[in-house]
Amino acid sequence: MQISNNHSQDRLEQNPAISVVDLTLRYGSVPIIENLSLDFPKGAFTALIGPNGCGKSTLLKSLTRILPPVTGSIAIDGIPMGDYSAKALARNIAFLPQVLPVPDGITVRQLVAYGRSPHNDIWGRLGGGDTAAIEAALAQLEVTELADRYVADLSGGQRQRVWIAMIVAQQTPIILLDEPTTFLDINHQVEVLRFARSLAAQGKTVVAVLHDLNQAFRYADNIAVMKGGKLVASGRPDAVARPELLHDVFSIDCSIIKDPESATPMLVIKD
Ligand SMILES: Nc1ncnc2c1ncn2[C@@H]1O[C@H](COP(=O)(O)OP(=O)(O)O)[C@@H](O)[C@H]1O
Ligand SMILES: [Mg+2]
Repeated sequence: MQISNNHSQDRLEQNPAISVVDLTLRYGSVPIIENLSLDFPKGAFTALIGPNGCGKSTLLKSLTRILPPVTGSIAIDGIPMGDYSAKALARNIAFLPQVLPVPDGITVRQLVAYGRSPHNDIWGRLGGGDTAAIEAALAQLEVTELADRYVADLSGGQRQRVWIAMIVAQQTPIILLDEPTTFLDINHQVEVLRFARSLAAQGKTVVAVLHDLNQAFRYADNIAVMKGGKLVASGRPDAVARPELLHDVFSIDCSIIKDPESATPMLVIKD
């Protein structure tokens, strides 16, 4: 445990992969995020937590330029996001949105192959490296057996894993996942969380919106807590998992105990 803590501490002290400064975001004239500043540490798994509607998805959308900032700046690896071409940005950041379409007439392998498009030539041809990346991603998400099935015919949980495989096939140093575990059974939730942790251990920067706080505390190196469009706390799980803070953010009364398996903080709801 000691070793793993030190390891994640080292990672938290590196230069940030994403640096958000004084960011304000709006839909039309409605402000959703105001003056938010936050660093996502490189090579770490950050869990983004906060109540429904606090702006988590909105923040992630801005990190992939889907939603332009009203004020403030976002730097990726120290370079302003505006300096990246669309293709260069897609080679650096892969994003799994919270709401995913159900693609019609597309097989699993074809969908995962879309993850390679930022790497393709102008003709969109797949090379040997692409095929290897696609097969590896299918295997990592345990969807190889589904490769020739239509995505539309899969269960919600299977489809979710196929979308994550597409993100993984993109082979970017930064991966943003908006509620990657929401439709999954407990076994596949844990698989995705372990996978996110192993990607971070390989040096990738992973940011995931999670609703299960105990899973966030257990698997993430770093927790960013949002409420009402603002950042209220960020840091290691044991620095953030405080009953007063969780009461303020989620209106829950809880105690914090030690997870007997991993020694990470674990919240228990009080009656
Ligand atoms: N496309 C949109 N147009 C207008 N308002 C939106 C849109 N998407 C989200 N919102 C609003 O922005 C706020 C933050 O939403 P969101 O970022 O999706 O929250 P979270 O992901 O934390 O649940 C909510 O009040 C939501 O209703
Ligand atoms: Mg959301």
